[in-house]
Amino acid sequence: MKLPLALDLVNANACLPASKSLIIRQSTADDLSYISTIEQLTSVNPWSNRQLNNCLEQSLVLIQEEQLIGFAVIILVEDQAELHNIAINPQVQGQGLGRFFLQALIEALPVTIKQLYLEVRVSNYRAIRLYHRMGFSKIAERKDYYRNGLGREDAVIMARNCAT
Ligand SMILES: CC(C)(COP(=O)(O)OP(=O)(O)OC[C@H]1O[C@@H](n2cnc3c(N)ncnc32)[C@H](O)[C@@H]1OP(=O)(O)O)[C@@H](O)C(=O)NCCC(=O)NCCS
Repeated sequence: MKLPLALDLVNANACLPASKSLIIRQSTADDLSYISTIEQLTSVNPWSNRQLNNCLEQSLVLIQEEQLIGFAVIILVEDQAELHNIAINPQVQGQGLGRFFLQALIEALPVTIKQLYLEVRVSNYRAIRLYHRMGFSKIAERKDYYRNGLGREDAVIMARNCAT
């Protein structure tokens, strides 16, 4: 397994719109409380601080005017990448920031990566719409994959080709 240090963050930052004053960088331990707050605010079944901490080395954060406004967790395995989490602070959602963030992360993937995979709740229309717009297609479903209150919810598995 490779760490996201293999990601080309220079390339990622170069494709962000200058007018939005955005920066993507690798996360540090100091980011944990901010990441955790966003996770709590945005997830039906939030990752624990321990889970988030365990993924810090695979986490990228989106900064706008010195505020941490989003984070993503990406794992690289051989020639595949998996997006395990992505979230934007609800206060600034719906402004195109999630799209810019995801596009920049795709641009940052090493050229050896052929596919980017992700899983999303079947009810998460907003995220699914974003992924479709970003070139992802549904490749499978996992029945009852997610906890949802007292019940369960299906996962949609989506993938996007990255090789140029
Ligand atoms: C999914 C998420 C990262 C998108 O971030 P965002 O900054 O709000 O997204 P954008 O503003 O770039 O919008 C991207 C697309 O999301 C959809 N969207 C964004 N805000 C929306 C809103 N208020 N209502 C409906 N759709 C919305 C739209 O399809 C939009 O594309 P379009 O308007 O160009 O058609 C964000 O909603 C989020 O953090 N959600 C909670 C965490 C989550 O579900 N993560 C995904 C786990 S798999």
